[in-house]
Amino acid sequence: MDRFFRTRDDRERFPDEVDLSPRPASQSHTTISVVMEIEHVNNAGYVHGGTIMRLVDTAAGIAAIKHARRRVVTAAMDDMSFLSPVFIGDLVTVQSMVNEAHRTSMEVGVRVDVETVLTGEHHRVASAHLVFVGLDAEGRAAAVPPVLAESDAERRRQAQARVRREHRLVRKQALDEAARG
Ligand SMILES: CC(C)(COP(=O)(O)OP(=O)(O)OC[C@H]1O[C@@H](n2cnc3c(N)ncnc32)[C@H](O)[C@@H]1OP(=O)(O)O)[C@@H](O)C(=O)NCCC(=O)NCCS
Repeated sequence: MDRFFRTRDDRERFPDEVDLSPRPASQSHTTISVVMEIEHVNNAGYVHGGTIMRLVDTAAGIAAIKHARRRVVTAAMDDMSFLSPVFIGDLVTVQSMVNEAHRTSMEVGVRVDVETVLTGEHHRVASAHLVFVGLDAEGRAAAVPPVLAESDAERRRQAQARVRREHRLVRKQALDEAARG
C-alpha cells in the first residue's frame, strides 16, 4: 500500500522507462467488491455518493496502472450517473477497464453494481468515465501504451471514448476562449 504514497523515494520505485507496446484492454480489467457498512451511510441510511465515487476512482486508478504499468493521476471524472440508491448491507462491486489511451492519458470506463446478498437480487447503480494521466518519476505527464480493443464490446467502448475525448477538447477550448473574453 505504501508504494502508492507520494514520497521522494518513489523515484526509484517508479522508473521512467516503461514498455510502450500495445496492450489488450482486457488486461486492465479490475474488480473491487465492498459490503456497505455504517461508516458508508448518511443519517437517512443511504450510502454517500462520495463513497461510491471513491471506489470508482480507486478501481479506475488500478485499471490505469495495470495498463500503463506506471504511476498515474486522476485528471478528470465525467459522465458519472447514479441510477438508484445504495443501502447499508449491500454488496457493491465496481468493475473498471481502460477504454482508450492517447499520448499520456487514458480513458477508463467504470460500472458499479449492487447485490442484496440476502436475496441475490442485483442491479447496476452507477457508471462513469474517468481520465488518468501517466506520470514519470518527476511527476510530469509521460507516455502510456496504446490500447488493443479485441472484442466487439471493447471496439465499441474505444470508439465512444474517442468521441468523448473530442468533446472534452472542444469544451476545454471553448471555456479557455470564454475565460480570455
Ligand atoms: C493531469 C496533469 C498531470 C496534466 O498535466 P499537464 O501539465 O496539464 O499535462 P499536459 O497538458 O501535457 O496534458 C497531458 C495529458 O493530460 C490530458 N489532460 C490534462 N488535463 C485534462 C483534463 N482536465 N481532462 C482530460 N484530460 C486532461 C491532456 O489531454 C493530455 O493528454 P494526451 O497526452 O493523451 O494528449 C496535471 O494537470 C495534474 O497533475 N493535475 C492534478 C492531478 C491530481 O492531483 N489528481 C488528483 C486530484 S485529488
